[in-house]
Amino acid sequence: MNYHVDFDIDLKRNPYKGKYIVVEGIDGSGKTTQVEKLKEYFEKKGKQVVIVKEPTREGEIGELIDSILQGKIKVPSVALQYLYSADRAVNHYKNIIPSLEKGSIIISDRCFWSSIPYGILDRGGVDYSNTAQVILVAHGILSMYHQFIVPDYTFYLKISVEEATKRLHGMEKTHEIYEKREKLAKIAEGYKWLVKQFPKEFVVVDGGQPVTKVTEEIISKLPR
Ligand SMILES: Nc1ncnc2c1ncn2[C@@H]1O[C@H](COP(=O)(O)OP(=O)(O)OP(=O)(O)O)[C@@H](O)[C@H]1O
Ligand SMILES: [Mg+2]
Repeated sequence: MNYHVDFDIDLKRNPYKGKYIVVEGIDGSGKTTQVEKLKEYFEKKGKQVVIVKEPTREGEIGELIDSILQGKIKVPSVALQYLYSADRAVNHYKNIIPSLEKGSIIISDRCFWSSIPYGILDRGGVDYSNTAQVILVAHGILSMYHQFIVPDYTFYLKISVEEATKRLHGMEKTHEIYEKREKLAKIAEGYKWLVKQFPKEFVVVDGGQPVTKVTEEIISKLPR
């Protein structure tokens, strides 16, 4: 027996005077680098800027996530997704909403959008050509997040898996579970689907350019 489930929803928009900017992309796409550059840019303009990242890796839940990502603790992948949500809720109420209320610019290294490509992979992946299957999984994940404010601007740093892998090798980062090449390719596929599915939420930026060019492209796409 098949059931047909179909409905329209909007995401929760930012009602506060502050601006909520997010940088998204696969590992090694340059998110952390660009978050710092944007902070410098806004501070030079005299704006109050608050930087956050997801997962926060701080506090009880954040530290637990950190240990799981480093492979020190093993939990079922669905449990990790719930932990991401819990960490996000803490970050949302403790940092994001108060900053937006004050009128600050909040710049976040990832947000709930990351949970779709990464969460789908954690659940064993999907066939992205099978739209019904992807929507079911993605909406299952999204339904947990309708209570969170969607960013005013989400910059997606689009980059080839080859370039991202090269950069990550250069960093000699601890071998976190998501940084393996074939996983990056699947995550990139997830982002491609996401950008296509939510075209108004993402501003696609060519992340393969030199750092300053990427920053310039992001700034050029923000309202004056
Ligand atoms: N535009 C760029 N051109 C060349 N190298 C870059 C560029 N942006 C960042 N890098 C370098 O690539 C590496 C990864 O960058 P960064 O840490 O900003 O990526 P990230 O998206 O935050 O990665 P992760 O998801 O693993 O945190 C760093 O060594 C950084 O200096
Ligand atoms: Mg980073």
